[in-house]
Amino acid sequence: MTNILCIGAGYVGGSTMPIIASHCPEDRIVIVDINEARIAAWQSDQLPIYEPGLDEIVRQTLGKNLFFSTDINRHIAEADIIFVSVNTPTKTFGQGAGRAADLQYWEKTARQILENSTSSKIVVEKSTLPVRTAEAMERILNSNGNGLHFDVLSNPEFLAEGTAVRDMQNPDRVLIGGRETESGQKAIKRLVEIYAQWIPRDRILTTNLWSSELSKLVANAFLAQRISSINAISALCERTEADINEVANAVGRDERIGRHFLRAGVGFGGSCFRKDILNLVYLCEHYGLPEVARYWEQVVTMNEYQEARFAANMVTSMFNTVAGKRIALFGAAFKANTNDTRESPALEVCRALLAEQADIVITDPHAMENACYDLGELASRITFEPDPYVASKNAHAIAILTEWPQYSQLGYERIYNSMVKPAFLFDGRNLLEHKKLYEMGFNVYPIGKPPLTHLVTPGFKHS
Ligand code: UDX
Ligand code: UDX
Repeated sequence: MTNILCIGAGYVGGSTMPIIASHCPEDRIVIVDINEARIAAWQSDQLPIYEPGLDEIVRQTLGKNLFFSTDINRHIAEADIIFVSVNTPTKTFGQGAGRAADLQYWEKTARQILENSTSSKIVVEKSTLPVRTAEAMERILNSNGNGLHFDVLSNPEFLAEGTAVRDMQNPDRVLIGGRETESGQKAIKRLVEIYAQWIPRDRILTTNLWSSELSKLVANAFLAQRISSINAISALCERTEADINEVANAVGRDERIGRHFLRAGVGFGGSCFRKDILNLVYLCEHYGLPEVARYWEQVVTMNEYQEARFAANMVTSMFNTVAGKRIALFGAAFKANTNDTRESPALEVCRALLAEQADIVITDPHAMENACYDLGELASRITFEPDPYVASKNAHAIAILTEWPQYSQLGYERIYNSMVKPAFLFDGRNLLEHKKLYEMGFNVYPIGKPPLTHLVTPGFKHS
């Protein structure tokens, strides 16, 4: 039996560890966190994160070989392998503020591991970290002089929220990086054996530490780059009467390009993309590569442009003013099937419209609580309404900001009839059937396609 500990019961730790527990019944998995409420929630009927299929797996393993606790020190002492998935937000102060990763929780955790260890251990970086973080980890962990040895591995998480269970059950690849020393290789082998219990061996890649750390940042940067690329082209489509879906399909059919991740929209969100790219940018600058840094920075700039462009287009289309107008935002989550609102484009659009003094109503099937929290003081100016029919009643406009499948099933005829006329619909995810909505009477503004409008709006002069 291996005693596995995970420090950090957030999205990453909380969704990966129960799956490891379900596939490794011989091993004992404990997840700890400083946040008592979170640990309590993991053991309740209402898990702290919404992730399809996860509650079932937690129910099956909880109390058998999966445990949650706030007693971090005790469980460190008992562990053979420690996964660390505490958060690594963007630094808000000092050197590298706004770009570099804030590693204070990481370092604190490393010291805590050191202080409470009475046996040698494998420490696994699960959080996304700047390349060469493991070096600092090793220095701290092996600074004890008490004969204990710590092997640091990098095992970045590639799961996407909303499909975390599927991604972890059947990943494209698992990446494990370690030192080329005998002890490093032994540690890699031990971790490989855990994953090999359900993942084909040829999908488990082993690399050196730095390649593994860097690959995670690069994978996210490439994914985000594709979205910014297609979003950049969506702006051009809107001016030229090309249709972004047709362009994406035509381009993506080339197998060298591939068809995934080419959905144009209001922008990418989530806790990772922005943070990881800024981290990459900072690293490039740190290593004296300003041209490389500028190249990747543009991916973030384009995303900010897309969010701002969407909100500005709403204002221009609605006769250049939204002040006092009720606008229903459909979706607050950064993508469908999650309650996560971190870096959500929906909230960016919301902020921009509030600055224009719009009267905002937000509806979302799972993410309203997080949206309210993330919007902070602004939340008091917003109505949160679970029922999309109520949210859109007497509204001048609806904006689809999250691609929740239920939004394509709504009775839009009924919604149209309850709205102020002319009724506007801005589809930030190209989720709905635009022609049908137009025929109902809506003025429809998709992404990357010319608007379907019964009015001649000053915002859409084709040049
Ligand atoms: C986060 C980052 O978003 C991701 O990029 C990184 O790879 C891992 O950390 P996530 O799991 O989504 O992933 O973060 P979050 O949901 O904030 O969870 C982190 C948890 O760590 C929180 O529950 C927090 O209470 C806990 N934590 C933080 C500790 O237990 N100890 C600490 O010192 C700091
Ligand atoms: C991402 C990576 O996919 C995952 O491998 C990594 O471990 C963490 O970061 P996640 O942020 O959960 O996962 O979601 P993802 O599905 O990648 O979507 C990110 C954002 O991009 C969402 O806001 C989504 O709406 C947007 N997106 C995605 C698009 O706008 N268009 C697309 O074609 C795909």
